[in-house]
Amino acid sequence: MRIDVVTIFPEYLAPARLSLLGKAQSAGLISVQVHDLREHATDRHNTVDDTPYGGGPGMVMMAEPWGLALDAIADQAKTAGVRPRLVVPTPSGRVFNQAVASELAQVEHLVFACGRYEGIDSRVLLAAEADFDVDEISIGDYVLAGGEVAALVIIEATTRLVAGVLGNEESVADDSFAPGRMEKLVEGPVFTKPSQWRDLEVPDVVLSGDHAAIARWRRDEALRRTATRRPELIEHTPAEQFDSTDQELLAALGWREDQGRWIR
Ligand code: ADE
Repeated sequence: MRIDVVTIFPEYLAPARLSLLGKAQSAGLISVQVHDLREHATDRHNTVDDTPYGGGPGMVMMAEPWGLALDAIADQAKTAGVRPRLVVPTPSGRVFNQAVASELAQVEHLVFACGRYEGIDSRVLLAAEADFDVDEISIGDYVLAGGEVAALVIIEATTRLVAGVLGNEESVADDSFAPGRMEKLVEGPVFTKPSQWRDLEVPDVVLSGDHAAIARWRRDEALRRTATRRPELIEHTPAEQFDSTDQELLAALGWREDQGRWIR
């Protein structure tokens, strides 16, 4: 997978060189190129923003620096024969989740356009449709100061799903929101050595070596947490995906079955 990121703050993307993603780059699985938008500014002050037409607060990123930056990437992609996906992090995009991460993990070339201020002149994305599949994505219902952190979030969640990056493909299948898991539950508690720490002990069942009992305990805890913290995940799950032990636990937590769903 090839990733290009265009930003006025290349330093913001420094974490992309660390950890799992850094290793994936050393292993040649992923290449990340960060580009400074200001290199495509057209005046001697390297201006990339201007006041909005129609008035209003803040500044808008100018079309021409973005157009030139994206043209340069599009030209390289044409040589390679791939049509890249242009991901534009914005609070007005479709909402990012694990399914979107899996979708992006299948794309050979991702380009991130990180906007600042009040956003990028809208004609840039219209023009970009000639060379890119344009995909505006929000990482959640809050407003960041710019797209860089959102790009990092999307890159991290996506690249760990690229074949070979994690090393242990099982950890992906086990993720709370992994597609194909029958129902979506948040993960329960985890422990490591020592078995006694301060005045806190690891639950006996987890130390028992009884794998079936451990699996059941983990599921109970996941269900308990999900019921409290993310009740909508349970409400959206068809009731037949809960086994009889799940159902007893949900009933004990004050839930009841109604028209094929468990509700509070
Ligand atoms: N830029 C600013 N806020 C954002 C958000 N919530 N998601 C993606 N990009 C953003």
